[in-house]
Amino acid sequence: KIAACLFDLDGVLVDTARYHFLAWKKLAEELGIEFTLEHNELLKGVSRMDSLDIILNLGKLELPQEKKNELAEQKNSDYLNYIMQMGEDEILPGVKEFLTGLRQRKIGVALGSASKNAQLILERLKIGDLFDAVIDGTKVSKAKPDPEVFLKGAEALQVEPAACLVFEDAIAGVEAARNGGMRCVGIGDRKTLAMADLVIPGFDGVEPESLFQQINLTMT
Ligand code: BG6
Ligand code: MG
Repeated sequence: KIAACLFDLDGVLVDTARYHFLAWKKLAEELGIEFTLEHNELLKGVSRMDSLDIILNLGKLELPQEKKNELAEQKNSDYLNYIMQMGEDEILPGVKEFLTGLRQRKIGVALGSASKNAQLILERLKIGDLFDAVIDGTKVSKAKPDPEVFLKGAEALQVEPAACLVFEDAIAGVEAARNGGMRCVGIGDRKTLAMADLVIPGFDGVEPESLFQQINLTMT
């Protein structure tokens, strides 16, 4: 029986992955490191500092922590320039309808994101009020695939992990859900997210009942 749905943010509710990519690419180029869209896949669901480490690794570059903090800060300010220009229309198709549908059916809705910018993005998209709880990068200490972010979400909603369904676009995120004893719907490519219970391309036209049925979850 399902009691709550937990949503990742970047790549699930909004396509911010391309802004992360543009900001990281600019930084990588300044450092003389080649950074492709393929490399970008490695950064999905990964925290800001860990992402920087992955990029520095690609360029076999070692830097002192102070410099790394500075670079991470610089990337974030470039990223925020994109976010500040983002409008409500960038919410992915069907997302708002799906979230609203869950609320009508009295199913708990929480955010489980690694991003420290999550609140700001929810504000930009004007969907903050659709969430009963928001667990983001400012509230967790362990990164996905550790289940902390989703377990905290379940706790905030006062539901058991087994009654939660997670929506994720990152491999590390699908693993986090499973590590927390939760079921998971992958958003994106079936092969990449093979560990998920079900993979869908997005929320456009998706009805809660039929989705839950496909993974043998009931609402009553
Ligand atoms: C995740 C993204 O949701 O948040 C990652 O998938 C990103 O790409 C991470 O690095 C941290 O985000 P932020 O906004 O705190 O830099
Ligand atoms: Mg994501």
